[in-house]
Amino acid sequence: MSDVWHPLSWKNFPALQQPDWPDPQALDETRRNLSGYPPLVFAGEVRSLKAHLARVAKGEAFLLQGGDCAESFNDFRANAIRDKLKVLLQMAVILTHGISKPVIKVGRIAGQFAKPRSSPMETRNGVSLPSFRGESINDPDFTLEARQPDPGRLERAYFQSASTLNLLRAFTHGGYADLTRLHTWNQDFVANSPQGQRYALLADQLTSSLKFMDAIGVNAKNTPQLRDIEYFTSHEALILEYESALTRQDSITGDWYDCSAHMIWIGERTRQTDGAHVEFLRGVKNPLGVKIGHTATSDEILRLCDLLNPENEPGRLTLIGRFGHNQILRVLPDLLRSVRQEGRQVVWSCDPMHGNTYSAPSGHKTRHLDEIMTELRHFFAILQAEGVWPGGVHFELTGDDVTECVGGSHDIREEHLAERYETTCDPRLNAAQSLDIAFLVAEAMRASQSR
Ligand code: PEP
Ligand code: CO
Repeated sequence: MSDVWHPLSWKNFPALQQPDWPDPQALDETRRNLSGYPPLVFAGEVRSLKAHLARVAKGEAFLLQGGDCAESFNDFRANAIRDKLKVLLQMAVILTHGISKPVIKVGRIAGQFAKPRSSPMETRNGVSLPSFRGESINDPDFTLEARQPDPGRLERAYFQSASTLNLLRAFTHGGYADLTRLHTWNQDFVANSPQGQRYALLADQLTSSLKFMDAIGVNAKNTPQLRDIEYFTSHEALILEYESALTRQDSITGDWYDCSAHMIWIGERTRQTDGAHVEFLRGVKNPLGVKIGHTATSDEILRLCDLLNPENEPGRLTLIGRFGHNQILRVLPDLLRSVRQEGRQVVWSCDPMHGNTYSAPSGHKTRHLDEIMTELRHFFAILQAEGVWPGGVHFELTGDDVTECVGGSHDIREEHLAERYETTCDPRLNAAQSLDIAFLVAEAMRASQSR
């Protein structure tokens, strides 16, 4: 790593997964524009999230992170944003009730556009074109023109993020997230599912408690906790030109913050300890995540802790395991022990999506709820056995009634995948499947707390 960090010091290191921008001047112009635009989030909010995550690191709260694999320019609608928020709020209610601890809500939204790819080129019927890298880079259509990286798309992603965040701020502070509206978060197509009904029963129970509290004088008018929620944003910090252009020095502390989101993470493919992504992230004060897959070694993880959290500050670093249901038992216990033996303060979170992706016979990429649940159950059991707090969970989900993952209370099968397969990247849980999973997590947490 370089001795002196600055927002562009990453340029002295190998940066994987960056597009081959065809027009350097256009890229310069975009970078200049983005550097002059207002920040999307503020340093004070970022510090607030870090303080919450410090409580997670100490076992006093739980992190719930989720949203699209990749946001899309086409699916940019108020209802889609609202429905994703609804699902996360419902999941948070189920978890808060189940584990009796605060749930920190972090959306994978308002900036989650760019995707790492396993190959820079895609070949179809003998034709090879640059891979689709997310809509902030190029277009998914399979033509040479569509696949040319275009820096103007980074600006479009910035403006879409600003507008998304504006609506989320309005929803979370304008009465929509008020706990007296618990029932209205249950969407029509979910309400009749077993999980929707289970949620409605819980909402009934909580609504009577709220009525009781209102009778003794505690209500949404006089108690902000019942009215407003704190909701944070996050995405993979993949495209370093974008992230560094949105990095600003805080006038109060003089520290640097990546103001594109509250929390940012490094993906499994770009977490090299001598790479540009680690160099960039080590210099900003945001809470950071690192995805770790089944090939990760204890030495790598400890080195990442040294580089990204040299002061061992709780809340700074979240390790997001994405091992796969058939690898987690083999890999996680040793990693956990090494981190604990070295006294590193981290949040351990489980992404049960990315290690469990497979292709169905129809060619659709999918994930089975049983395997997602198996990885989650193993995660809670392993952490409990090691005496470490299972800090959080990370999902790809949507509020829509899609058919992208199989299994769950609506019993989606592989032959149903084509019906509503709408993701531009990885398969997401639909709203009913997300509730299924939230109830499972609450049960698994309760079981490990009572032991
Ligand atoms: C993702 O979160 O969409 C992703 C690409 O994850 P990972 O880096 O864990 O593969
Ligand atoms: Co994904």
